[in-house]
Amino acid sequence: MKYYNVAVVGATGAVGEEMTQILEQRDFPVRKLSLYASHRSAGKEYLFKGKTIRVEELKDNSFQGIDIALFSGGDDVSKHFAPLAVQAGTVVIDNGKYYRMDPNVPLVVPEVNPEDVSKHQGIIANPNCSTIQMVVALKPIYDAVGINKVICSTYQSVSGTGKEAINELREQTEAVVLNKDIKINAYPYQIAFNVLPHIGSFDKDGYTSEEIKMLNETRKILHANKIMVSATTVRVPVYRAHAEDVHIETQKEISPDKAREILSNFPGIKVIDEPEQCRYPLSLDAEGKDEVFVGRIRKDLVFNPGLVMWVVADNLRKGAALNALQIAELLVDTE
Ligand SMILES: NC(=O)c1ccc[n+]([C@@H]2O[C@H](COP(=O)([O-])OP(=O)(O)OC[C@H]3O[C@@H](n4cnc5c(N)ncnc54)[C@H](OP(=O)(O)O)[C@@H]3O)[C@@H](O)[C@H]2O)c1
Repeated sequence: MKYYNVAVVGATGAVGEEMTQILEQRDFPVRKLSLYASHRSAGKEYLFKGKTIRVEELKDNSFQGIDIALFSGGDDVSKHFAPLAVQAGTVVIDNGKYYRMDPNVPLVVPEVNPEDVSKHQGIIANPNCSTIQMVVALKPIYDAVGINKVICSTYQSVSGTGKEAINELREQTEAVVLNKDIKINAYPYQIAFNVLPHIGSFDKDGYTSEEIKMLNETRKILHANKIMVSATTVRVPVYRAHAEDVHIETQKEISPDKAREILSNFPGIKVIDEPEQCRYPLSLDAEGKDEVFVGRIRKDLVFNPGLVMWVVADNLRKGAALNALQIAELLVDTE
């Protein structure tokens, strides 16, 4: 069996820490693991397979001898360091948005378009967290009956913004309960006990960058340039796991029972759909899990033919670190 020198870039972040844990949990064939962050976190230590690994400051020459680098250091880091890594012979799997729509960079969700990995020229992009869980749930329906349009509202957790926002929700919640002053940094407004219809930056038409990512990335992953996706992305005071309300106009009729059956048989999906027993996917239940959970499957009352479903997944796992590692596993399989 071949073993790989693997680097995690942004190893001290919300996604990076999950990445190191998943490398161990899935027993990825690691010969040597290197952990990189900025100078701020150099020297911090993590345990990997019983050994202590010290975080190093990321530098231009950090990629000598690295086979696979899992990047989650933000877009500036990806922009500068990914080309240097590729020059050094490293395959980069990037979590940021910088390379996602580059025609020379495959954008991959392993359950949906694994074949695209083989087209890489050194960089493979991991899609946006809210797109990943939605396309996993759309793919079996798309294959069965075709899809014209999707309307999606998201309920996204604060860990999607990173560690600073996780701390901010905790601190603000304590401050509200104890009637203390509230500090606001991560978002334009208080997130504790609030709902913010704003993720990313607004364009001239009033959509946010997160909403436009859901349209463009879905088209690229499904190779479906005509599919329409209109999203409203919303931040909610939940630590972990994003939930989505997804309304689909299909090309042909499909019954909710048939949809339940094909979704249940699709890799990576778990259907929880017994509403009369109060059984449906919940953010708290999805935390730390690998599956995309789908429930509340029913006929849409507006789109005809159409379906509605409720889709929940852990944004730090399937929405980021797990999907990146599944891409790395495809590389290992094909070599
Ligand atoms: N959170 C999610 O659900 C999610 C999902 C999909 C994609 N992503 C993407 O993943 C990336 C990281 O997100 P996150 O949530 O993990 O953020 P985060 O918790 O803020 O972590 C950022 C990481 O980047 C490192 N970093 C920052 N500047 C650096 C530099 N100049 N050189 C090297 N490392 C540097 C930080 O290191 P220090 O400790 O030294 O500051 C930290 O390890 C972003 O591009 C984000 O869009 C996140």
